Amino acid sequence: MKLSITDIKQKKNKSEKITVVTAYDYSTAKICDTSGIEIILVGDSAGMVMLGYDNTLSVTMDEMMVFCKGVINGSKNALIVADMPFGSYHSHSSFAILNAVKFIKLGCSAIKIEGGREIAPIVHFLTQKGIPVMGHIGLKPQTSPLWTGYKVQGKTCDSAIELLNDAIELEKSGAFSIVLEMVTAEIAEKISQLLSIPTIGIGSGSKCDGQVLVLHDLLGLYTNIKPKFVKRYVDSYSLFSAAINNYVTDVKSGEFPNSEYAFSMPPEEMQKFENYFNSLKNEKK
Ligand code: KIV
Repeated sequence: MKLSITDIKQKKNKSEKITVVTAYDYSTAKICDTSGIEIILVGDSAGMVMLGYDNTLSVTMDEMMVFCKGVINGSKNALIVADMPFGSYHSHSSFAILNAVKFIKLGCSAIKIEGGREIAPIVHFLTQKGIPVMGHIGLKPQTSPLWTGYKVQGKTCDSAIELLNDAIELEKSGAFSIVLEMVTAEIAEKISQLLSIPTIGIGSGSKCDGQVLVLHDLLGLYTNIKPKFVKRYVDSYSLFSAAINNYVTDVKSGEFPNSEYAFSMPPEEMQKFENYFNSLKNEKK
């Protein structure tokens, strides 16, 4: 049965860790869904790992909708969260809700938006209208690179207080959970202790209420960069590359497809066809 927002929130009360991973298509969503993942985030990281963009800024609503459709079709149990792409919620609450509704109508259960106190009024507006919102603070891939680059957040007392206030404000605004990205482990733990909604960490230590990784990082498929916090559970890039290499060799040598992978005619039908074919050939001479 599909997990609900309440199910996810209750996991924190039961001190049960929440498992989250990104996915962007039907086939991998199906694998995640049947492997115990509780939340599938259709992250705007799709722009990088699926479309080859340099960062997450360029991915569009239309592109995200296609990724979400595949994930919705591939998952029966996991709660699906759609990441609102850069520019799709910034200008006005009414613009944010129009775009959020597109994801919910498609079949997603919630949306995620990046930002702290500055985005709290939009979170409030969306949640008041019944749209579950996941927050995202710490490193914000849509905007942090424009200012500071990809830096660990919460290294000083002042920045830790900022993060804490952002988290408190998002909770007050109705967010059902908050992603903490690249926040120092000590501060991520304190935020997790203080909030009653679950925190989902990425590069933020083990004391968050749940963990998220980009699927292509976890599977070792995306090799352009490897942040320190990424654990590659398999080297899919090498595995896939070896398999495709074998295919190339087999096709070149004629080894593939052999009779095991081909279809045949019944011999009597083939005989009739041979007769026809030979008479045609003789006519052409
Ligand atoms: O887009 C994404 O994949 C994310 C995760 C890193 C949390 O926002």
